[in-house]
Amino acid sequence: MKTQVAIVGGGPAGLLLSQLLHLSGIENIVLERRSRDYVLSRIRAGVLESGTVQVLNDADVGGRVAREGQPHEGVELSWHDERLRIDLEALTGETVTVYGQTEVTRDLYDAGDARGAEIVHEAAVKRIEDIEGIEGSTPSVVYEKNGAEHRVEADFVAGCDGFHGPARQTIPDSVRREFERVYPFGWLGLLSRTPPAAPELIYATHERGFALCSMRSDSISRYYVQVPASEKIEDWSADRFWEELRRRIPADVADTMVTDGEVLEMSVAPLRSFVCEPMRHGSLFLAGDAAHIVPPTGAKGLNLAVSDVYYLHRAFDLFFNHGKSDGLDGYSDQALSRVWKAERFSWTLTSMLHDFPHYEPFEKRMQKAEFDYLTRSETARRGLAENYIGLPF
Ligand code: APR
Ligand code: PHB
Repeated sequence: MKTQVAIVGGGPAGLLLSQLLHLSGIENIVLERRSRDYVLSRIRAGVLESGTVQVLNDADVGGRVAREGQPHEGVELSWHDERLRIDLEALTGETVTVYGQTEVTRDLYDAGDARGAEIVHEAAVKRIEDIEGIEGSTPSVVYEKNGAEHRVEADFVAGCDGFHGPARQTIPDSVRREFERVYPFGWLGLLSRTPPAAPELIYATHERGFALCSMRSDSISRYYVQVPASEKIEDWSADRFWEELRRRIPADVADTMVTDGEVLEMSVAPLRSFVCEPMRHGSLFLAGDAAHIVPPTGAKGLNLAVSDVYYLHRAFDLFFNHGKSDGLDGYSDQALSRVWKAERFSWTLTSMLHDFPHYEPFEKRMQKAEFDYLTRSETARRGLAENYIGLPF
């Protein structure tokens, strides 16, 4: 098989890139290790920046998010006994859209079906070869399906294979630099068929640990509580979750929160900050979680994957349709510049809102000072809001 761009990974990054390339007349194939049902069963975050929604529109997959996504004008911070609303709309003129990442993925699959996209499931990529542009060699991707090995030759390879995929490792150790921070806690999440506890998201800091009240729609809620990194999901019943959540969120919200609906999912996710530099090596380009991870506190994971794909699609379009390679040459620096700012924001918010077991009184006072500053300074709130709604592409 031969194509212009071989895409490793059929998560939101790979599927969106495939769709945008198709609209630009660039041939591509997506290789995804899992089944479609498996990919669509993964529950992830649910806050889209307006730039993300714009790219989904550009990709002709914005119909359902426009109809079903909920615009949110603000988010709330609850700090022990104090509360602070961040009025995103008043501070920035923009809103965010609450719409599940799983739904974005579903919309991309539907669009792929409609155009007869080449998306190969249960195709595990084993190796990515000849990306270094040596005369006479062609980049290729070797994958295994139904016990047999197959090879796709391509002009370029897009590594959209998430944090555990093989693409990043293809960049030689002598070139690759990785930056990482692993946090000593995770988030235990619960998705339920219950109306949201409050109309806006609540990020809650409490001495028992952080909690988040979020939602997917008027009838589906998503909640999280901070747990130690070693926590096992088997140790948590729904009842234990609700009880713990109630203790950490504002009393009036806890008192009226509906908890007697069906529990749709519970899982624990570790928290990590991670960046790989560069995001391009020869003919290989990384996008999304393959290149970087943020802790979920700022809801930036999917949004960053989308901005990478936006830059990468533009670079491929310039190359294939206009004969210019400067987009490809600038891709890594351009993507990383936005990535690092989102890393900074996610790290800052995580550091301010969570209970860190090793924090000494000094660090705790720093967290308090940070919250007080936000309470008293509109400039500080605007800084938070500007990052939360998403920095410009
Ligand atoms: N061969 C083929 N596919 C692979 C391989 C492989 N060897 N390894 C991993 N994959 C697939 C995974 O099965 C997964 O479906 O790559 C896909 C990567 O998808 P995601 O992990 O969803 O990553 P990405 O598309 O970059 O989306 C980023 O997802 O993880 C969240 O918080 C993150 O919201 C962010 C978004
Ligand atoms: C979610 O709804 O799953 C969600 C929302 C906001 C976050 C993280 C996750 O910061």
